[in-house]
Amino acid sequence: MTKILVTSALPYANGDIHIGHLAGAYLPADIYVRFQRLKGQDIIHICGTDEHGVPITLTAEKEKKTPKEIVDYYYKRIKDSFERFGIKFDNFSRTSIPLHHRVSQQFFLKVMEKGYIYPREVEQYFCPRCQRFLPDRYITGTCPHCGFPEARGDQCEACGRWLEPTRLKEPRCKICGGVPELRKTRHWFFRLSSFQNQLKDWIETKGHWKENVKNFCSGWFKEGLEDRPITRDLKWGVKVPLAEAKEKVMYVWFDAPIGYISSTIEWAERIGQPEKWKEYWCDKDTRLIHFIGKDNIVFHALVWPAMLMAHGEFILPADIPANEFLNLEGKPMSTSRGWAVWLPEYLEEFDPDPLRYSIAINAPQTRDADFSWKDFRRRNNDELADILGNFVNRTLKFIVNNYRGNVPAVGLIDHTGKEVITQIRSVGKRVESLLERFDIKQALREAMGLAQLGNQYFDHQKPWSTHHSNPLACEQTIHVCTKIISALSIILEPFLPFTSEKIRKMLRLDRISWDDLNDPKVPATIGEVAPLYPKLEPERVELQLNKIRERAQMSKPKEIDIEYFSGVEIRIGRIISAEMVAGSDRLIRMEVSFGDFKRTAVAGIGSHYRPEELVGKKAPFVTNLKPVKIRGILSEVMILAADYPGGIKILIPDGDPPEGAKIK
Ligand code: MF3
Ligand code: ZN
Repeated sequence: MTKILVTSALPYANGDIHIGHLAGAYLPADIYVRFQRLKGQDIIHICGTDEHGVPITLTAEKEKKTPKEIVDYYYKRIKDSFERFGIKFDNFSRTSIPLHHRVSQQFFLKVMEKGYIYPREVEQYFCPRCQRFLPDRYITGTCPHCGFPEARGDQCEACGRWLEPTRLKEPRCKICGGVPELRKTRHWFFRLSSFQNQLKDWIETKGHWKENVKNFCSGWFKEGLEDRPITRDLKWGVKVPLAEAKEKVMYVWFDAPIGYISSTIEWAERIGQPEKWKEYWCDKDTRLIHFIGKDNIVFHALVWPAMLMAHGEFILPADIPANEFLNLEGKPMSTSRGWAVWLPEYLEEFDPDPLRYSIAINAPQTRDADFSWKDFRRRNNDELADILGNFVNRTLKFIVNNYRGNVPAVGLIDHTGKEVITQIRSVGKRVESLLERFDIKQALREAMGLAQLGNQYFDHQKPWSTHHSNPLACEQTIHVCTKIISALSIILEPFLPFTSEKIRKMLRLDRISWDDLNDPKVPATIGEVAPLYPKLEPERVELQLNKIRERAQMSKPKEIDIEYFSGVEIRIGRIISAEMVAGSDRLIRMEVSFGDFKRTAVAGIGSHYRPEELVGKKAPFVTNLKPVKIRGILSEVMILAADYPGGIKILIPDGDPPEGAKIK
């Protein structure tokens, strides 16, 4: 039998999991694995925490703790919250364990032996004030590709490009804000450039992959793959296993994906079959599937496969279902600004399934999606409670009230009843083929259709009236409804495992399998009946919304000194013309007069202003920003506006200061 090895991106152990992470990797992976398990496939789900790299050391420095204290703390919290949310792993490891260090070092040496790792003298930023080299995220600056002013040294959050710190424009030290200088040092490089053709040929065989992944890769191939340094001047990480590199550790993106292998090895040891991991990593018949968010595409679709090709003893990924981002209340999630819903915090207030449902039914599969608390409440009340909960409850209550808890057995099933059973099978088939293609959103919609069908059937058959007029017909109706509920407990298990378990208790079903959908089992008697979903009052979710809003208001930005601030030039400008940018419903292009000179501004305020409203207005603009091209238009100045959840308001000066007046 083909084996399936599923991995979910190893989360950094420097913070809690939030709903964006869940939507990107963990929930889709869990749904897929649970489904394959019900089908009886040989499948394992591997994960663990990513405990190295600058994200960890930066957090440690900020919180005045050691990296070890940080990762110990978050490893536990992350593992625990996944468990409580029903995300099941066969193994949840961590990259700080000796086993992982050993496996990573062997991997490194093997790739080096094959000639794909070599040392080179390079220039690297060094902060004279902090007296240290600044790897990766210790440095920020302007993205050379898209102009985003706060790109991190290793990756630009705005355009997703993988960067080298030396390419950043206007670099600054993340710790002290100072200007770094270039110094010579030695680093070991991975010969990524050698794999361009091999990778390209390989990805060409992956026509079924998601468009976002394929497009991302072809973009990279056009630019050309370059060799990358994979060592860092840090104390925290996997030591480079070379005598000449004693002070260096591996780049976190080199050791982290190897964590998929070491976690599988740990699993095999734990279950007492230490060689078993090889069945998953070394057998050409195993399908390796990496679930990730879109910010991880370059590493999983290009760098990691190249590492695997270089190493040569392991299989390559068969699929990489990468998801887009989940926004929160219309705005991108931001952990530093507190704009996120964290899992432990959610679980204090609510059950897991309503959130699993809200995320899955609206999953960011092909484009970014949005989570809002209002929508969450609506999904819980109008869909889970009113459709699914109601159908299960009315049927089972009926059995308790009219048949003393015994499910009516029937000899024959009439035409309508048979039709329903056929429907169950075909919904099962459709959900199956959708899940095989990772379309969890459509699959869940189909599955919920079955609950809807149950309600329609119940209404149409009117058992409350046939109970007196035609008892046999009534028995049949209730029997068929119980079959639908039994089917729901199977088909919904991947998405709503806690609900499925409750239903199974009520139906006294102990084992379920996907095959049972062909003829769902009906018990002789049912257990205690309890409603599945409490309805949520508006206050419950308003409280949550207020919480994130307050947090976002209070979050403290980085301190800057007066010198830094006085480097920002702000002047009063008058908007002389304004129009929507073609093809955008958000961007407005404005011509602005500052008295002696005119400038163009492109601003994302179109969702709250019509261009006509702006013409003639005076407002403050930042006039010495480096111009950036937005949709092909050069934006030279930036309008100042209050930007808050639910609104954008441009600032209007008191009185009538002249055009060009400077703001201090
Ligand atoms: N820690 C990374 C992140 O959160 C993901 C690492 S995935 C792995 O973005 F492949 F490197 F393990
Ligand atoms: Zn960028």
